[in-house]
Amino acid sequence: MEVIHTVEWMKQTARQARAEGRVIGFVPTMGALHAGHLSLVEAARRETSPVVISIFVNPKQFGPQEDFAKYPRSFENDQELLEKLGVDFLFAPSAEEMYPAGFRTTVNVEGLADRLEGRARPGHFRGVATVVLKLLEIIGPRFAYFGRKDAQQLRVIRQMAADLALDAEIVTCPIVREPDGLAMSSRNAYLSPAERRAATVLYRALDSARQAIAGGERDAARLTAAMRGVLATEPLAALDYAEVVDADTFEAVTFLRGTCFALLAVRIGATRLIDNMLIETASNAPVRTDRSPDRCSL
Ligand code: PAJ
Repeated sequence: MEVIHTVEWMKQTARQARAEGRVIGFVPTMGALHAGHLSLVEAARRETSPVVISIFVNPKQFGPQEDFAKYPRSFENDQELLEKLGVDFLFAPSAEEMYPAGFRTTVNVEGLADRLEGRARPGHFRGVATVVLKLLEIIGPRFAYFGRKDAQQLRVIRQMAADLALDAEIVTCPIVREPDGLAMSSRNAYLSPAERRAATVLYRALDSARQAIAGGERDAARLTAAMRGVLATEPLAALDYAEVVDADTFEAVTFLRGTCFALLAVRIGATRLIDNMLIETASNAPVRTDRSPDRCSL
């Protein structure tokens, strides 16, 4: 695996691979890699060659009060993991390399980026869209892989890719969880043992919505009430939002229809965690419940 630190060398390397007719797969990350990230890398490995991974803790997507400075960084360990998975190129630029003095351009996906995560974290999606567009421009992948763990981020990136006619195809990968249901996240490293136990409440809340749906519930207010009820049983959990939204608009729905997401943002102590469940409703189809709350098909 070759580690690349400069934009110019990354561009030249990627250009050469494309000139040879190779299909680049790209996985953008902020490092502190876990099995969720690695599932994206494995998907890219199955479908493309060469595989390029970026590790860049993007300052532009953190608010002034957020955890940029203490965001977990484990570059050597990450490098080892990626090497073992047969990644071809690791792109790890510095902040100065990505945002040299005088950098002025930002990408704003109107509307979609204002609700939920966008409202809780002003400027967050502008930072995400800006860095993802720049990375896609530098690397020029045919496929770029993202996790459904960050469902709204994925929706914002898909919108940007469609609006700007980007060449890269955006590929969605399912949520990878710990055995007790907690969605893998670099931020789980912040949790104390007691908080780590409490953090399973997000999964339990989503599972209560899944069970309600399996029992015939279609009313979004009742589903959010079920999720809130579970969250209220955990003293270490403070709810930020629990909503059922349309998967296309990310606007709250009244009744389940088409494809929806149940979305959660919860503080466990000082750590803010998000999780979600995809809900696919198909008229005429019998109600089908899935053991995993990631995806719930009606
Ligand atoms: P990061 O949080 O490092 O996540 C990188 C990618 O891994 C994202 O696409 C995210 O959705 C995916 N991912 C994280 N946890 C996952 C899990 N448990 N299961 C499946 N996929 C998971 O998201 C970012 O970085 C940044 O915003 C980035 C897109 C790199 C832009 O800076």
